Amino acid sequence: MHPVLDPAPAILAEAAEVIAYPAGRPLDEVSIRQAAEGCIGIVSQLMDPVRETVLSTPGLKIVSNVAVGFDNIDVAAATAHKVMVTNTPGVLDDSTADFAFTLLMAAARRVVEADSFTRSGRFRGWAIDMMLGTDIFGATLGIIGIGRIGRGVAHRAKGFNMRVLYYDPHPLPPDAEQQLAATRVDLGRLLSESDFVSVHVPLTQETQHLLSAQQFNQMKRNAILINTSRGPVVDEAALVQALQERKIAGAGLDVYEREPAVHPGLVPMPNVVLAPHIASATVRTRSEMSAMAARNMATAVRGGRPPNLVNPEVKR
Ligand code: DGY
Repeated sequence: MHPVLDPAPAILAEAAEVIAYPAGRPLDEVSIRQAAEGCIGIVSQLMDPVRETVLSTPGLKIVSNVAVGFDNIDVAAATAHKVMVTNTPGVLDDSTADFAFTLLMAAARRVVEADSFTRSGRFRGWAIDMMLGTDIFGATLGIIGIGRIGRGVAHRAKGFNMRVLYYDPHPLPPDAEQQLAATRVDLGRLLSESDFVSVHVPLTQETQHLLSAQQFNQMKRNAILINTSRGPVVDEAALVQALQERKIAGAGLDVYEREPAVHPGLVPMPNVVLAPHIASATVRTRSEMSAMAARNMATAVRGGRPPNLVNPEVKR
């Protein structure tokens, strides 16, 4: 459906005839279904809606998503139609954790604001009260979702001597908790004690709007929210209101509720750092994601069981 990075094109070409979806064509379900006619597989990306209309295409055997998240795919419908769904877990954890920390630091120390201040010629001399930010070293970090990426963020926080709280239905094994110096708490306590809250959960029915007005009311007024997971986990209208009413101090966002649209209320806010869903965007990681997706596809095309199958019941 979109270009993929080397070495993926070669891996795909060795396994099958590859048809590239033309650039500029719509990516709605009906168009994807038309493109899928006659194909054994689709290499999709996170912005492609792959639901019943697409998954019922006769002969379709696999949808290989070039992302760890697969909320763009109706996995239950895929399973019902015996279509394998694969993703690209693991390879992007460090890049994404790095970027969560990048947003955290940029928002805390007003890096984007300072850059545009300096470029525009407004820096006319040192001042004791200029661009005062928030300390990171020794602050409390609340991590929502302690999967691979959440653990990566906790690991980085150790270097900043942060106190790490986490909320997750699944506790870490005691040795991992000890190694990361992370304490499991309920969501209310995490929100009320954290200076930074970083979100690392997949988007599911349970996590949609996990953070909304009620949760923002529980957060500290100096708190900064970081989201590198999926936009709809945060109720964006409620976030804008909380920022406008100074219920929280700022945010660093890589993902949006109606991507690629950004809530217009966020755009003029200097205390918010906005990025275009690039947390995994390093040369190495994006190329490894592409290769992994291509290998998943190639294995399925050859009749095998792809390594990163998210609905294993389809192929035992
Ligand atoms: C993913 O893989 O789900 C990210 O959002 C994009 O890298």
